[in-house]
Amino acid sequence: MENEHYSVLLEETISLLEPKEDGIYVDLTLGRGGTSSAILRLIKNGHLYSFDMDKEAIAKSKARLESVGKNFTIINSNFAYFVEELKKVGVTEVDGITADLGVSSPQFDEGERGFSYRFDSELDMRMDLDASLSAKNIVNTYSLEDLTRIFREYGEDQDSYRVAKRIVEYRAKKEIETTLELVDIIKSAKPAKVLAKKGHPAKQIFQALRIETNHELDNLKTLLEDFDKILKPGGVIAIISFHSLEDRLVKNRFRELTVIEGDRHALLPSLDEEAPYENLTKRAIRASDKELGENHRSTSALLRAIKKKGESK
Ligand SMILES: C[S@@+](CC[C@H](N)C(=O)[O-])C[C@H]1O[C@@H](n2cnc3c(N)ncnc32)[C@H](O)[C@@H]1O
Repeated sequence: MENEHYSVLLEETISLLEPKEDGIYVDLTLGRGGTSSAILRLIKNGHLYSFDMDKEAIAKSKARLESVGKNFTIINSNFAYFVEELKKVGVTEVDGITADLGVSSPQFDEGERGFSYRFDSELDMRMDLDASLSAKNIVNTYSLEDLTRIFREYGEDQDSYRVAKRIVEYRAKKEIETTLELVDIIKSAKPAKVLAKKGHPAKQIFQALRIETNHELDNLKTLLEDFDKILKPGGVIAIISFHSLEDRLVKNRFRELTVIEGDRHALLPSLDEEAPYENLTKRAIRASDKELGENHRSTSALLRAIKKKGESK
């Protein structure tokens, strides 16, 4: 059974985070509030700060959190600015941080947001409805080279150039306006043997446009650079990603913080030198068979977590 409010890898995330009753926690991706509610239930005397750049997600989740407790603050901001945003409300140290990246099921399933190749709607894909760049702007204004590059880099689509070229030819006659119009253009650019394969032929191009529209990889890079400034010793950061581009960034940054690598051209690290974090997930955690049976979106989810060394205060 598909469940639009399903929180991916929820139990696993909470057991890594181990919320303390009086702790300060940050959920960087509120969405429909599943993860935030689960944290809030455990932190009777603590406080939760939940971020989302999607005003609609916030409007729908606020009441859900209110039914659990009052000790939370929702911040409508891109999580790339989370350290500054927390400073503004006087928070400089936190006990745990979590992020469940990407688009929520409601964003996909409410066709009018333009994320899905299954529903006809304006080609939008903005998570932040105040942002100026939409997928429609991208397909109608980016050069052939830039379209090819984003399809290749963010979609890893083997027909990137063909699709970009067909888009440029099409828009010379008419502006591309809707999701299904784009699906037809993509299909017309793909060879018959690719169209005959399993999986939707527009999936990777739509993924690429979504990543570009929302600057998803740049936001994740900023988060990965910044979280150490605010995480207390003993604190955990847990991140769920949904494709290899995101997971690679998370894996590499977590490795940098958990492994001191000896360089054969340099002296090996001294014995008392220690990596600042401990790796809690030697391999990324994937959804159990039970979860996979209940929620299709969990199929590609990968959860990684690290813990800052030192005594928690
Ligand atoms: C997969 S959903 C989170 C679902 C949530 N864990 C739950 O249990 O309902 C991801 C949410 O993060 C938001 N989001 C994604 N990237 C963001 C960013 N850079 N800054 C703020 N919010 C972001 C999206 O708008 C979406 O609502």
